[in-house]
Amino acid sequence: MTRKTVRIAMNGVTGRMGYRQHLVRSILALREQGGLGLGDGTVLWPEPVLLGRRAYALEALAEKHGLDEANISTDVDAVLADDSVDIFFDAAMTSGREEVLKKAIAAGKHVYTEKPTATGLDGALELARLARAAGVKSGVVQDKIFLPGLLKLKRLIDGGFFGEILSVRGEFGYWVFEGDWQEAQRPSWNYRSEDGGGIVVDMFPHWEYVLHELFGRVTSVQALTATHVPQRWDENGKPYDATADDAAYGIFELDGGAIAQINSSWAVRVNRDELVEFQVDGTEGSAVAGLRNCRAQHRSSTPKPVWNPDIPATYSFRDQWQEVPDNQEFDNGFKAQWELFLKHVYADAPYRWDLLAGARGVQLAELGLKASAEGRRVDVPEITL
Ligand SMILES: NC(=O)c1ccc[n+]([C@@H]2O[C@H](COP(=O)([O-])OP(=O)(O)OC[C@H]3O[C@@H](n4cnc5c(N)ncnc54)[C@H](O)[C@@H]3O)[C@@H](O)[C@H]2O)c1
Repeated sequence: MTRKTVRIAMNGVTGRMGYRQHLVRSILALREQGGLGLGDGTVLWPEPVLLGRRAYALEALAEKHGLDEANISTDVDAVLADDSVDIFFDAAMTSGREEVLKKAIAAGKHVYTEKPTATGLDGALELARLARAAGVKSGVVQDKIFLPGLLKLKRLIDGGFFGEILSVRGEFGYWVFEGDWQEAQRPSWNYRSEDGGGIVVDMFPHWEYVLHELFGRVTSVQALTATHVPQRWDENGKPYDATADDAAYGIFELDGGAIAQINSSWAVRVNRDELVEFQVDGTEGSAVAGLRNCRAQHRSSTPKPVWNPDIPATYSFRDQWQEVPDNQEFDNGFKAQWELFLKHVYADAPYRWDLLAGARGVQLAELGLKASAEGRRVDVPEITL
C-alpha cells in the first residue's frame, strides 16, 4: 500500500458549509476512515490547508481538530504559490468566488467549489473555459443528488416505477429568523443582493442539477420572486434592508415533457416531513422524496377520492403511501462527492459535475431572475464551451 498525501487548500473553512460539511463531515471523515483507496494499492491521505481571513478563527479550528498549525494561512497568494498544494477548494462567500477561482486556475490548481460558481453566466462560463484551457480538473458541489431520499427516488426512476413522468412538485424552505428577538440561523449576506445573496442565486443552481440529473434538462423557466421580509438584523444586531429575494415561486419545463414546479422560501413555516420534498407523479405511480426518506404509491394501490366537502374524510391519504427501503448504507452526500472528485483528480475516474455543469446552475438562476423581472417565460438554451 502506498500512502499519498494530498494537500487541499480550503478557503472559507470557518463558514457554515466549509466547516461542518466539507472539513468535518468530508475531509476529516475521510481521515478517520483511514484515507481514500484508489483501488490500485494507493490510499489518498487528505491534508487540509485552512485558508481564511481571520488567523485566530483558523487557529481555533486547527486546535479543536488536532491539525498542524503550519497548515493555516490568511494569504491566498502564498498558498497558491505552494507547489505541494494540488487542489483549491472554495466555500467562502459567493461574491468573492469568481476572482479567487480564476487565481487558483491560473496557478495550475485543480479546483473544487461550492455553488454558485459565479454571480452571472458569463463569469461562470469563463471559469469553465479557463479551467479547460489550463488543463486542470474542476468540480462543483451538487450535494442534493447524493442525499438518501433522492438516491431512493433515482432508484425508482431507474427501475421504471413511474411509467411516464408527468410532473414534479418541490417544496423547499423554512422560517429564517429576522435576527431581532431571535438570532438568524443563516448569514446576513444571504439577504443582500449586493453581497451575492438571494434565494434564486442560492437555490436555483440546486434545482437545475436535481431536475437535470433525475428528469431532464430544464428548457424554460417562469418565476415570481419576492422579498417577503424587507428588514432583518445582522450578526452584530444591526438592522439592515433585505435587498435580495427571500422567496421564489418557479415553474420549469423539462426536456422529455415533464413539468416541474418548485417553491423556495425562507419565509415559510414547515408543515412537511422534511425541509425539502419533491412529489413526482407518473402514469404508473407517484413518490414523495425528501432529504432522507422516500414514500411511494403505485397505481394499483391508489385510492379513488370523490370530492364531497359535506362528509369528513374517513381515512388518511398519507397512510396510503409505502416507505421505500434504504437497501444500502448512505454516506454523507458531501463526502460521497468529495470521494468521486478525488478519484477523478488522482485516478482519472469519470466525473461530470464540473464547472460547465456549475455554469448551468448559474444560468438557471440568472434566467429565473430575468423571468421574474420581465414577468414572462424564458427559454433556457443549452450551453457549451
Ligand atoms: N451546497 C449547499 O447545500 C450549500 C448550502 C449553503 C451554502 N452554500 C454555499 O456555500 C458558500 C458559503 O455559504 P455559507 O452559508 O457557509 O456562508 P458563511 O457566511 O457561513 O461562510 C462564508 C465563509 O467565508 C468567509 N469569508 C467571507 N468573506 C471572505 C473573503 N473575502 N475571503 C475569505 N473568506 C471569506 C467567512 O469568514 C466564512 O468563513 C456560498 O457560496 C453558498 O452559496 C452551499
